Formats: sequence, structure tokens, C-alpha cells
Amino acid sequence: MAMTAKPDVRPANPRFSSGPCAKRPGWSLEALQDAALGRSHRAKIGKTKLQQAIDETREILGVPADYRIGIVPASDTGAVEMAMWSLLGARGVDCLAWESFGAGWVTDAVKQLKLSDARTLEAPYGEIVDFADVDFDRDVVFTWNGTTSGVRVPNGDAIPAERQGLTICDATSAAFAQDLPFDKLDVVTFSWQKVLGGEAAHGMLILSPRAVERLESYKPAWPLPKIFRMVKGGKLIEGIFKGETINTPSMLCVEDYLDSLAWAKRIGGLAELKRRADANLAVIERFVEANGWLGFLAKTPEIRSNTSVCLTFTDPAVAALPEDGQAAFAKAVASALEKEGVALDIGAYRDAPAGLRIWCGATVETSDLEALMPWLAWAYEAQKAALAQAA
Ligand SMILES: Cc1ncc(COP(=O)(O)O)c(C=O)c1O
Repeated sequence: MAMTAKPDVRPANPRFSSGPCAKRPGWSLEALQDAALGRSHRAKIGKTKLQQAIDETREILGVPADYRIGIVPASDTGAVEMAMWSLLGARGVDCLAWESFGAGWVTDAVKQLKLSDARTLEAPYGEIVDFADVDFDRDVVFTWNGTTSGVRVPNGDAIPAERQGLTICDATSAAFAQDLPFDKLDVVTFSWQKVLGGEAAHGMLILSPRAVERLESYKPAWPLPKIFRMVKGGKLIEGIFKGETINTPSMLCVEDYLDSLAWAKRIGGLAELKRRADANLAVIERFVEANGWLGFLAKTPEIRSNTSVCLTFTDPAVAALPEDGQAAFAKAVASALEKEGVALDIGAYRDAPAGLRIWCGATVETSDLEALMPWLAWAYEAQKAALAQAA
């Protein structure tokens, strides 16, 4: 097998990690010079910035005026668990999972909260659960975009507008890249470190009026730690949704989030963020189309993610290897690319099938993905040659 020469062009930015994701184009620490450092987050300057983060999130994502938006501790995980611990148990719950993060929320419901009426609906990596099997008169917990399988919910059509249960949606790798039908979603969570390339540590918790109604009318049987508590004396603590955070936030992270929101607005808002992610996915789609040895983990185009794009080696010689051999092959490809400095952190998630995962969210430049594609071919061919030699 003739070896392909190393491509001439390298991506200007090799950061294709699925979280924390690449900072926005042109970002530098200079962008944070107005951060309210060394000041109380409860002083006017701090509170104003936190409120601004909430307001601009609402504006860019198109969150309805009657939905609450709060900044909460512990990134997306904190926001999801805060919602689950505060809301679940009032009625039966359907927990949907098609990759490892969804599976984590199933564990929370079944093994930690030990909910007596919890149903689990699971699909293998590459597929999603059939929403026709879901009972929306129960509460429903699910992940909009499965970051570790590259699979997303195509739209909210299967979620009835009139439903008895609450829909609790982990949208951390979907928000700012995909449409989120807020009228179908009662809880939406995400963290700053994904599509906008912000910092981790803080989560966003968006609540519909029906979610608030549940919070005010239902008291879970289990104790809630202070960082989960959103209700006092049967009333929502409204301050949390006006920037009066439960505990101390990082004002440096807040400034960085404000910077990423300002960038999002500058380039054209949600429409442009989605267009950038779609264009990035299209680069990989064209490459996969032209190269039979690579395929999407997502079984059909409708459920293919435009952020966490997961790929498998469909070359029969690789696919025929035992599982650990496939994993070693994929790892060797990812390592070769990392060593060349052309792609950092693109190995598949530890619990996912062997392959590559390339972040395509809005902060990634399409030209960088275009530059990466020939390198993928180069690394694959080098590993294929090594495989042939070892045989
Ligand atoms: C779908 C999904 N849920 C939850 C998380 C956890 O997010 P965090 O580490 O910000 O809490 C991630 C992180 O990648 C994710 O992709």
C-alpha cells in the first residue's frame, strides 16, 4: 500500500475537543479584562453582569419571557441533578438513554433517587429511543444531543403540547447549535463550555411555568442540599433567576460567558451559530461520502449531530478486528493526529464504541475542518499499513 504524503496544510486551530470546546475565533485573555474580579458577586457590578448573562441567553436562544433562567453550580451536571432531585417523584418518570450521559441520568433516577415508578427506555449507540413509546403524561428525562454517540433528537414533534408530565432535557451539547422547542420542554439545561466555548463550573437551568408550578406544589420525600434548593416556604426563590446565585460564582467565567454571548450576537445570533455547525458537519459528510472506510455512528442523517460528530472505521479490515483491536486502531489514529498537532482530543468517549469524535460546534472554523480531512486520510492509511505489516 503506497503511503500518502503528509498534507501541506494544517488546521490553524487543532482544538476539536467535545468539551471544553474551542474558544470563539479571535478569543484571548484580553477579552476578560472587564471581569469584576475581587468584587462581591452580590455588589451591583456583579449582579448586573449575572443578570446580563441571563438576559442575553434569553435573547439569543429565544427563551419565552415566562420561562425562568438561572445560573447554578456544578456545570450542566449540577443543573440536571438539581432539576431531577427537586422535581421527580410527583408522578412516574420515563428515563430515555442512548449514550452514556443519558445513562447517567437513568442511574440517578433508578439507583440514587430509587424512584418507585421509573421506566427506562434505552437505544444502542447510534440510535435514539422511539418517542412513540414514551408516555408524556409521566415526567420524561432525556438528553437532546448525545455527546458521546453523535446522535440528536431531530425535533420536538413527538412531544405533545398538552402533556401531564414535565420534560426534563439535558441540552448541553445542543444549545446554541440546534433548535430547542421551548414550548415542548419544561426544563432545559446546558453549560457554558460547549457550543459557545465558554468555561465550565456553572450550569444554566431554564424552567417553564409548569416546572415552577411543580416546584411550588410538590415537596420531595428526600432531603435537598443547599445547592439544590430553589424553593423557600413553598415559593420559588425568584432571586436565583435574577442573578442572585445560590453560592459564589466565578466572575472570570461569567465575563467569559458574556464575551461568548457578545460574539454570538455580533456574528448573527442563533441562526448563524446553527449555520456554522451545519457547515462544519457538511465538511465531514462530504469526506465520509468520498471515503468508504469511515462512517457515522449515527444510523440515519436525521439524527446526526452537528456538534459532537462521532465516526467509526467501516473499513472491513478494521471492523473485523476484535473490540480492543478496533479501539487500539482508532486510538492510534487519534494519537498520530495529536502528535502532529493537527487535532487534539478527538478519540471517542471512553464508554462509546471505538472511533473518533470531532467537535463541529460554532466556535470551530469550517476552514480548520477542511484542513483536517486530508490528515484523517493520512493517519488512517498509516495505521492501516501498520496493521498490514503486523499481520
Ligand atoms: C450530554 C451531556 N450531559 C452532561 C454533560 C456533563 O456536563 P458538565 O461536565 O458540564 O457537567 C456533558 C458533558 O460533556 C454532556 O455532553
